[in-house]
Parts: sequence; C-alpha cells; structure tokens
Amino acid sequence: MKLTHSLIIFVQVLVLTCASPALAKSPQKPIIQSILDDTYQKFKHEESGKNADYIPALAKVDSTYFGLAVATPHGEIYTKGDVNQPFSIQSISKVFTLALAMEQKGPQIIVDKIGVNATGLAFNSVTAIELNKARSVNPLVNAGAIATVSLLDGKNEQSKWSVLSAWYDNFANRKLSVLEDVYESESETNGHNRAIAELLSSYNRFYGDVDINLAVYTRQCSVAVTTKDLAVMASVLANNGVHPLTDKRLMSSENVSRVLAVMTTAGLYENSGQWAYQVGLPAKSGVGGGIIAVSPGRFAVAVFSPRLDGAGNSVRAQQAINFIAEKLHANIF
Ligand code: DON
Repeated sequence: MKLTHSLIIFVQVLVLTCASPALAKSPQKPIIQSILDDTYQKFKHEESGKNADYIPALAKVDSTYFGLAVATPHGEIYTKGDVNQPFSIQSISKVFTLALAMEQKGPQIIVDKIGVNATGLAFNSVTAIELNKARSVNPLVNAGAIATVSLLDGKNEQSKWSVLSAWYDNFANRKLSVLEDVYESESETNGHNRAIAELLSSYNRFYGDVDINLAVYTRQCSVAVTTKDLAVMASVLANNGVHPLTDKRLMSSENVSRVLAVMTTAGLYENSGQWAYQVGLPAKSGVGGGIIAVSPGRFAVAVFSPRLDGAGNSVRAQQAINFIAEKLHANIF
C-alpha cells in the first residue's frame, strides 16, 4: 500500500515536471522568450475591439501598441514588442491600492467596509451598489476602489498621494510619474465616479471626503507604466509579497493570497468567471489596455494592447495571456 502511494507521488512529480518544462527550473530564458516571440507573431495582426473613449485622452492612444513581458520570482524579465511605451495603469492600480489598504489596516477591513464578492456587473455599475443591501461591492470595481482610497491613511490629498505613489514606486522598483493629460481628461469627465462616491457616502460606505479621495483615485489611474513595469509590479504577487529585484518584503503572504483571490473573482469584472474557466490565473485589467496575470510562485505576465472588449478588458491582452498561460501550463485550477 505504502509502496503504491510512493509510486503515485513519484509519477505525479514526474508528470508535473515534464508538463511544465519552461518553469521546471529557472533560468530557462530561451523557452520563455520563444513563447513571447511566438505570442507576438500569433496576435500581431489582431485588431478586434476599440480604445476606451469615455476618457477622451485614451481614445487618442495608438491602438496598435502591443507589448508583452514576463517577470519571474527569480528576478528574470523577458520582453517582446512595445514594452517601454508608457500608458496609463488605470484599474490595474486598484490591485496595489488594495494591497496598501490591507497592509495599513489589516485584511478584515476590506471585508467589513468594502466587500469581497464579485458584483457580476460592469466596473462602474451603480446598480451593483443598489442591488446589494449591504452596499457591498469589491475593491476592484470603481465603487470599491474609490472607497478603498478613502480608507488609506493621510489627512489630505497630498499626504495620501505621497504615500500611495511611493508605494507604487516600490513595486515598480523605480520612480513612476503621472500622465497629466490623462489625469486632466479623466478629472473633467468623471461625473459618474463622483456620483458613485456620493452614493456610497449617502449609505455610510465611504470613509472620507469625496473630493479628496476621488482626486487621489483619479491620479492613481493616471500613473504612467510600461508593460515591463507592470510585469515587475505583479512579480511581487507571484513571489508571495517579496520583491524579486530587491528582496524586500512589501506585503504579508496572507495579504497576497487575499489580493489574488479578489483578482480571481473580480479582476476582469463581469467576465471574471469566463476568464477563470478558460485561463485559470488571477488577473487584473485596465481601460488603458494593460492586463496583468499572476501564476503564484512561477511568474507574472503583463500585456499592453489598447483595444478593449465591451467589459473594458483588452481583447489582444486576453488572447495573449491565455496563449502564454497554456504554453506554460499555468492554470492554477
Ligand atoms: O475610473 C475609471 O473609470 C477608470 N479610471 C478606470 C477604469 C478601468 O480601468 C476599468 N478596467 N478595465
């Protein structure tokens, strides 16, 4: 009986090792690089979807950009395409703001004051707030994300922003800047987000001044990143909270698991279930055209391509990450 059990374990280990040749041991540079090269070739002519245009500055971004980057817990980085082109991080920022709120206040506050269930509705849904008696959303939709900013330490816009922007810089391992044209464009047109914040406030589900927190949220969405930055930022999540390039712990491993859980249930909004079914990786999209996905302990991938589907997720980034995840046998389920 014991012998059979040992044999089964031996075979399982053998199968897993052979099934994941690209990551069985690291570094395996040629394999990951050749997967990125193949992905680029396969999807370089994909033109489905269209740029976000409800933020006018995003409509002007060149739709043809295509950048792919993988970063591993060993600090290796692989890239292909337009990986040094800056673009606005948009909703991908929500992941890192959530991480900061958890580090400052502990993970339970997110359950109590924001919510962690999927809304199953659009990222800027007001209906989601109205439908749920507890007005509970989650930190990756606009309502929950703006409310998460309102939980952060800091008495005014400046003090909140300086802590938050330094936090993002730690993940990127460099000083990030803000795309001021995007910030202005979004500030001029964010009446819908203001309405969401006021509505939450009326239900006592907002935890500070609407103007201040909306401004910080809008600024966080306007942070300029490259595809390579996003892969590096997400690699902290893939490495259980320790930065692969600096060896500094940025997050507790408990908080990493919880952030990844919310990414799995809500990272691609109403399409999160389909994404989990098909790709099986925690992920987060932004209307700037970026998507990050995390294979815990193995790698983080970021793809940038501005054309979006109806849910606000980059069409080509989804296709590319799906392909990369299949090649690397990365589905966590
Ligand atoms: O608040 C907004 O609407 C944007 N700044 C961010 C939305 C977003 O990125 C949704 N993601 N796919």
